[in-house]
Amino acid sequence: MTWWHDGVIYQIYPRSFADSNGDGIGDLPGITARLDYLAELGVDALWLSPFFPSPDVDFGYDVANYTDVDPQYGTLADFDALIAAAHARGLHIILDMVLNHTSDQHPWFQESRKSKDNPYRDWYLWRAKPNNWQSVFGGGGWQLDPLTGEYYFHMFFKQQPDLNWRNPAVRQAILDVFRFWLDRGVDGFRLDVFNAYFKHADLPDQPTAFGLRGFDRLKHVYDMDQPEMMPLLQELRALLAAYPGDRYVVGETFLSSAEKAARYTGIDRLHAAFNFEFLNAPFEPRRMMRLINHWEHLLGEQDWPNYVLNNHDITRTATRWHTGEKDDKLKMAALLLLTLRGTPFLYYGEEIGMRDLRIRRKSEIQDPVGRVYYPFFVGRDGCRSPMQWNGAINAGFCPPNVHPWLPVHADHVTRSLASQRVEPDSLWHFYQQLLAIRKRCAAITQGIFLPIAPDSRVLLAYVRQSKEQTLLVAINFSSREQGLVLGRELNQAHWRVLISSRRPELAEQENPQLLHGGLLHLRGHEAMLLEKVESD
Ligand code: NOJ
Repeated sequence: MTWWHDGVIYQIYPRSFADSNGDGIGDLPGITARLDYLAELGVDALWLSPFFPSPDVDFGYDVANYTDVDPQYGTLADFDALIAAAHARGLHIILDMVLNHTSDQHPWFQESRKSKDNPYRDWYLWRAKPNNWQSVFGGGGWQLDPLTGEYYFHMFFKQQPDLNWRNPAVRQAILDVFRFWLDRGVDGFRLDVFNAYFKHADLPDQPTAFGLRGFDRLKHVYDMDQPEMMPLLQELRALLAAYPGDRYVVGETFLSSAEKAARYTGIDRLHAAFNFEFLNAPFEPRRMMRLINHWEHLLGEQDWPNYVLNNHDITRTATRWHTGEKDDKLKMAALLLLTLRGTPFLYYGEEIGMRDLRIRRKSEIQDPVGRVYYPFFVGRDGCRSPMQWNGAINAGFCPPNVHPWLPVHADHVTRSLASQRVEPDSLWHFYQQLLAIRKRCAAITQGIFLPIAPDSRVLLAYVRQSKEQTLLVAINFSSREQGLVLGRELNQAHWRVLISSRRPELAEQENPQLLHGGLLHLRGHEAMLLEKVESD
């Protein structure tokens, strides 16, 4: 199949991954220097959060130039070197395109605001009077610009004006941006809040709803999911298809439901759209299994699911699930994520179980969203702390005498790549082994998905089956030993353990007394992957 179908995509937040020039901010040469590590880990592609020139009101999600690299991250030549080095190692590169809005510093907006008859005026959404639309990041969605006495719409911060996608010139300019990066060899794109590109042509008031924030007190019927999106996706797919290789596009479905994400996926649409229901699910087997089944049912034959548990906008799983210092639950999650049918997405540091930074005071906050909503929400700095490469001061992210842009988590002394490498039972080794197993198991990349015991409150289990291979995944969510009831066929089969999170010594063992009385016995919080041994 293709790299994005069979492979695993690893998200890097460039600011926090590796600082090569000692300014406390991660950069592109820093990533290049770590490519051997990523290849060794066994991922197939890197999604890079934005590194384009930006005033950093939203840390790169406010772009001032779509076809360059911000000097704090390097140069275009550094990018070319990164992509060449990645490709030399079989790693693909996906860029994060933030195209619902630009920065207010983008020359398009700088022109647009100059006068009502500026050729760029209609590149943004200007009105003499605001409607009732709100900003996600707080307050009304319209900003009065004294220069012309009109208001422009911004779904996020006022420094992030929304583009007018109905203007054909905007559409052409953006398609050229895609061409620019495709010509440079980029393998795909992640589209930031793509389903908000188009707004209703008349910009009508939206119906009201119940909710806490102003944004939630509206039904978003006119500021997102407009029908014009589908033909645009079709055009984008045709553009990608015109390039050699398998170029890929995945969308961040804003205010997503599984139904909505599924609707945007398919031939002539996106290759994939994130289904954030799974990411927001409690760590509970019944709920998770329901979401998986639902997602499987919603997607058509031609579609391909994707699963994600962490990203740059949400508290890391270890912190979200209150795992304390233990990694048992993270191993269970790893086995689940990496054996489901679909493309798994990992977020940097997930492989060593990084925890969120604790933000106590407003003065510590970097993320402007946190400053707006403090103390109710402290923002997203927690999940963006520097990668913990080793136990030294600054964790190997930047030199010891430098202040990293966000503090390194204090636990790097005990939790780092270096410390987990030398510990055979570490989370990192578990990830690495699983990633290697994935690569050689056709049942994982190609096989069907058959749930077992879907209503269990303690066990999550399923079979993955291809023509040549049958795998059994069994995860015990309780802290006590549990028995998984296997049907006759599964019970009579011979099984070899490929990996167990609690009993590494079982790996590669056949029939190790796990099955008796029609039950597969699992220890508390154990995750296990077994392969059926075909008898001649
Ligand atoms: C979604 C991104 O994931 C988030 O980080 C950003 O703040 C908003 N889009 C606005 O671009």
